[in-house]
Amino acid sequence: MFLLAVLCVFCIWSSATLTGGLGSTPSTIPRKTVPISSYGGRLFHEEGVLNYTTMLVREDLNMLILGAREAIFALDLDDIAVKKAMVNWPVTNKEQIDCSNKGKDATNDCKNYIRILHKRNDDRMYVCGTKAFIPTCDYMSYADGSLTLEGKQEDGKGKCPFDPSQRYTSEMVDGVLYSATSMNFRGSEPVMIRSSEEYIRTEFSSTWLNEPNFVHMAHIREGELNPEGDDDKIYLFFSETAVEYDSYTKMDVSRVARVCKGDLGGQRTLQRKWTSFLKARLDCPVPNNNLPLLVQDVFHLCPGDWTTCVFYAVFSPQLDSTQYSAVCAYKIEDVKAVFSKGKFKAPVTVETSFVKWVMYSGDVPDPRPGACIDNHAREMGFTKSLELPDKTLQFIKDKPLMDQAVKTSGEKPLLVKRGAAFTRIVVATATAVDGTTHQVMFIGTKSGSVLKSVNYDGEMVIMEEIQLFGPSEPVKILRLSNTKLYVGSDVGVVQLSINECGRYHTCLDCVLARDPYCGWDLNADQCSTINSTHRNSTVIQSLSYGDASQCPQIDDSKSVSISFSHGNTVKLWCQPYSNLAQVQWQLNRQPIKASNTFQVLSDSLMIFNASADTSGRYTCSSVERNYKTQHVAYDLKMWSASGTTALLHDVKEKENTLVAMVVLLSLILSMLAIWNLYKGHFPLPFCHRRVKDTENRGEQSLYENQPPEHKIASSTVNLNSNNNHVNNQRYSSSRETDRLSTTVGSSGQITLKYIDDESEI
Ligand SMILES: *[C@@H]1O[C@H](CO)[C@@H](O)[C@H](O)[C@H]1NC(C)=O
Ligand SMILES: *[C@@H]1O[C@H](CO)[C@@H](O)[C@H](O)[C@H]1NC(C)=O
Ligand SMILES: *[C@@H]1O[C@H](CO)[C@@H](O)[C@H](O)[C@H]1NC(C)=O
Ligand SMILES: *[C@@H]1O[C@H](CO)[C@@H](O)[C@H](O)[C@H]1NC(C)=O
Repeated sequence: MFLLAVLCVFCIWSSATLTGGLGSTPSTIPRKTVPISSYGGRLFHEEGVLNYTTMLVREDLNMLILGAREAIFALDLDDIAVKKAMVNWPVTNKEQIDCSNKGKDATNDCKNYIRILHKRNDDRMYVCGTKAFIPTCDYMSYADGSLTLEGKQEDGKGKCPFDPSQRYTSEMVDGVLYSATSMNFRGSEPVMIRSSEEYIRTEFSSTWLNEPNFVHMAHIREGELNPEGDDDKIYLFFSETAVEYDSYTKMDVSRVARVCKGDLGGQRTLQRKWTSFLKARLDCPVPNNNLPLLVQDVFHLCPGDWTTCVFYAVFSPQLDSTQYSAVCAYKIEDVKAVFSKGKFKAPVTVETSFVKWVMYSGDVPDPRPGACIDNHAREMGFTKSLELPDKTLQFIKDKPLMDQAVKTSGEKPLLVKRGAAFTRIVVATATAVDGTTHQVMFIGTKSGSVLKSVNYDGEMVIMEEIQLFGPSEPVKILRLSNTKLYVGSDVGVVQLSINECGRYHTCLDCVLARDPYCGWDLNADQCSTINSTHRNSTVIQSLSYGDASQCPQIDDSKSVSISFSHGNTVKLWCQPYSNLAQVQWQLNRQPIKASNTFQVLSDSLMIFNASADTSGRYTCSSVERNYKTQHVAYDLKMWSASGTTALLHDVKEKENTLVAMVVLLSLILSMLAIWNLYKGHFPLPFCHRRVKDTENRGEQSLYENQPPEHKIASSTVNLNSNNNHVNNQRYSSSRETDRLSTTVGSSGQITLKYIDDESEI
């Protein structure tokens, strides 16, 4: 019995000490850790349907088109919980049987996973699915409140993967589909194709594509207003097996490739193949990672014309996913320079069969291999790729790899973080009060969360981490509309507001968050979303410095009275609203030091064997960026009747400023409760889960603070219940289950109820 008690204390203790122990710089710790329940997000999930991993944002219809397994949905863009229409696209029995006869898993692989959703020029949409390893495409329209598939059953080979677990990418460019996927059943024939009258593809050669994982495709309208008469480009991002390193083990690298939109292939050499396919390594340097990071997703943002385009890419480690992940940005000019001016690599055979790729220093033919038809080529008499000389074409056929790598802009990643691997990224632009613009990155992780992050002149700031799905449900797609973010996973889709400021309750919290969308409005006395009417002096925002000195003073004279009996164990709650804040406890204005009597935990202070010496005034403050906030004050007295009920009101009243709860643990009753536990009368979720969490989530779990609303909500449960330890146990377990049910479990069990407005909590 005693052993159990010790164990439980120990597990609380160990999670607390780990908090300070891990070697990660403060800046890469998310300032807030937010469960979805307090975010006011909305969720969509259809009973029996899985894999919500394809999306098309149709602002024109005000709809989110969502592709899942064997179904496509049309959801309201403002509230995805509102389903406008859906259409099923199942596989037939025969297709499923044929597929499983070929050795594929009938219940998982032999289904129709929707993989391609694009808007066409004629208002219809183009849809492709894996269709039990017979990739098939169709046309779909939305009219009169329903989604309709035309049943065209077009061959989807080369557009859509056979295997639903393979990465792929595609883009609709002026009504023509460009895609990168594998063309055969075995998944061993990777291609990048253009499906039009002028059908063009890559060579089947490992020199071109070497076991690639396709990640993203981007059409950049370089042809408009180009002084060199250059063409539009389609950029392709992927990772593949490296050829350029002296390595005995197989190693992957990240690549960017590009082709010209006007490419028609060659006449004899490279007939119906790209004559403009060039690729280069993509570098995202992170110290202490042994192997290069691999690109997982790319988002391109062009604030002005094509020369302003920037590619934001997320990278994660190739073997050990607990290593650093990173975000790197690449300017289009830098990417272009490598392709249009850089040197090539060429294979040389060393010893008998070993091929090494080294810088090519021989003559490069003119027109330059891989260049689009531009003014220079036209002057030489070449008006289309079909006319290009064999010498140029043969060169590109053998040597599509550039010698130089594309370097990240600013030489350093925008964000580096250890913990859950990054999976997806989207970037939005926010305009601050002073009119400056900032790129806000939303990054999906392998453990089902989204990070909201900004880089201020080289300083990485993660404003928050929002836990959306269970820790084993990776974020598989992110899409943006004007003001909303849509996050898809295998088990459901969540919609978030990108400029939510109501979570910041005090001026200090609002300003120290350094969220470019938010500022403290002195007139309204709240943290408000910045809009054009705020471009005046009544709003406090300090993005680069987090300077909160303009914030009004808060009255901190209120306190909570508590009575205890001699020998009691008392737990005083105090949770700062920021993971970056340091908590300081004082007793009668003297700092409290850890001892046999006092134990300072990340969210509370434990007082053991309380006596006359331990009575007095306790204050809990937190310090963040040199700003001190007092969260709560307690007046502890030795037992005198009727002390406890009064404190309930105090806790609630101070809602805005304090994040606090008071729990009185009677030592005798806790023994009773432990006895009950030991006898198996209640489960012991607290201890157990805590440890498991720590293992699963690395550093993040340590900062898993409940937000203020949540705490106060839980406190009512506890405080109404006479403060005995039996109820405290119930409190712990309800808190735990709360958190678990607020995420969508990996078992596929979903509690829709939880996405309620925070006001309801
Ligand atoms: C579909 O979702 C299920 C349930 O999460 C998952 O086990 C499976 O791997 C997913 N399939 C694909 C192809 O993503
Ligand atoms: C701008 O914010 C103010 C105060 O938060 C609000 O009253 C006003 O409606 C907003 N204006 C716009 C255009 O959203
Ligand atoms: C707000 O800004 C406008 C123009 O920038 C200025 O004319 C006006 O006086 C300002 N109002 C306040 C209250 O500062
Ligand atoms: C509690 O404090 C009293 C004196 O105030 C002391 O005699 C006793 O040994 C302490 N008990 C424990 C368990 O520390």
